[in-house]
Amino acid sequence: GRVLSVASECVPFVKTGGLADVVGALPAALAAVEWDMRVLIPAYRALRPVLAQMTPVWEEPGLFGGHGTVYAGQAEGIDLLLLDAPHLYDREGGPYSGPGGDWWDNPQRFAALSWVAARVAREGIAGWRPDVLHAHDWQAGFAPAYLAYHGAGAVKSVITIHNIAFQGWAPVNLINDLRLPGEQFYPDGLEYYGGLSSLKAGLVTADWITTVSPTYAAELMRPEFGMGLQGVVAARSARVSGILNGVDTELWSPEAGPLPYSAKAPAGKAQARAALCAEFGVEVPGPLAIVVSRLTDQKGIDLLPQVVPNFVAAGGGLIVLGSGDPGLEAAMRALAQAHPGRVAVRIGYDEALSHRLFAGADAVLVPSRFEPCGLTQMYGLRFGTLPVVAATGGLADTVIGVSPATLAAGVATGVVFHPTDALAFGQALTKLVEVYGQPKLWARLQKNAMAHPVGWETSAAAYAALYESLRA
Ligand code: ADP
Ligand code: GLC
Repeated sequence: GRVLSVASECVPFVKTGGLADVVGALPAALAAVEWDMRVLIPAYRALRPVLAQMTPVWEEPGLFGGHGTVYAGQAEGIDLLLLDAPHLYDREGGPYSGPGGDWWDNPQRFAALSWVAARVAREGIAGWRPDVLHAHDWQAGFAPAYLAYHGAGAVKSVITIHNIAFQGWAPVNLINDLRLPGEQFYPDGLEYYGGLSSLKAGLVTADWITTVSPTYAAELMRPEFGMGLQGVVAARSARVSGILNGVDTELWSPEAGPLPYSAKAPAGKAQARAALCAEFGVEVPGPLAIVVSRLTDQKGIDLLPQVVPNFVAAGGGLIVLGSGDPGLEAAMRALAQAHPGRVAVRIGYDEALSHRLFAGADAVLVPSRFEPCGLTQMYGLRFGTLPVVAATGGLADTVIGVSPATLAAGVATGVVFHPTDALAFGQALTKLVEVYGQPKLWARLQKNAMAHPVGWETSAAAYAALYESLRA
């Protein structure tokens, strides 16, 4: 079958978070189960060199105040479709914001992407017509709606929720400009707390809804996690499924680094650890933990200053790589200052460094308040860098906490705590130090972790089965 994936981010072209990793990994994962996926993303300024290598295949005059052109071609192994609309995307800055904050016309910018996705899906492009349109998050939320309201032809639609915290809100007075039918403005339709939400629009109109882990699929229907959309998701619960993300196991492999190691030949990990400690000027007798994350409230980063002093006193060390909320960035810097030689912080985004961190560290901390899936705990498993995670969303679905029973069963892969607060997190770190002090036990957990499957095989089969059922 054929599927058109539409999103605002895709590795290796543009990334602000895990969404990009997943959108970039799906085509290869699905090719393995005989689904041909093309990916449509906007031609942001940074992508203009890629655009230059591609062929124009579709014109969309009158696209929210300017001209749109879709370019097609192979790039970095992906069958890519780029929507070139300079008036919307050729700007200095990130995909959603520039120097002055969020772009004022984000509703139009992503409505345009969704509009073109719906048309291309319905009509086919350069002789290629998809069976399924797969929309990701609020940025593509209007795509299923346009199919529903302007005609879908034979195309079915799926929307995946990667993070319900971002809802694509727009004022109702844009309803006509956004090419949405005014008569759909009622609570079970497009209305969302008096305005519009592109995510809600997708959720009420798509043929199927998925999210990125089974636990988050259940959590989403509850007010603590649904963020206002719990009722919308719950009302469609018969058409909601949770399909866990995988990770690219070749890219995220302990055997691929400069100091390679594996479960069978683990010696390289000690070298990677030593190199990392030297790079950051830390010396850590106990477990060396890392955090690689957006620094936001979602990720529970504010808990670190409350738990790190005890962890350090017990012999632990920490390296943080991340950027985001200025208050949290400052808190991380202060933490490093308070614990020289034990805690180090790098504010910024650095893919290569993140690989060195996973290779050299003993543990990765993910104390999220909510986590639709989470990828770094899976990198941790892959590298034998034991995850210490809050029992929520995809974290609960991917890490098996150490306990007498899980040890006896030979399945423990990390430390799991609940709820997401400083008390439980602190106890989890105490547990980590304890386990680290028992080398045989530690080695067993590492072995279990590295054997835990984190690739795409199972999930690709689940997506293929879903697409197939919709097509039938
Ligand atoms: P989210 O999408 O909510 O940010 P995920 O765990 O799904 O969370 O994905 C985050 C992705 O971004 C991972 O690939 C992670 O390694 C990467 N990442 C986050 N912050 C940084 C950073 N500062 N430097 C390098 N990679 C980062
Ligand atoms: C979102 C979520 C994260 C998930 C990622 C990819 O950014 O916050 O948990 O792993 O999307 O699906």
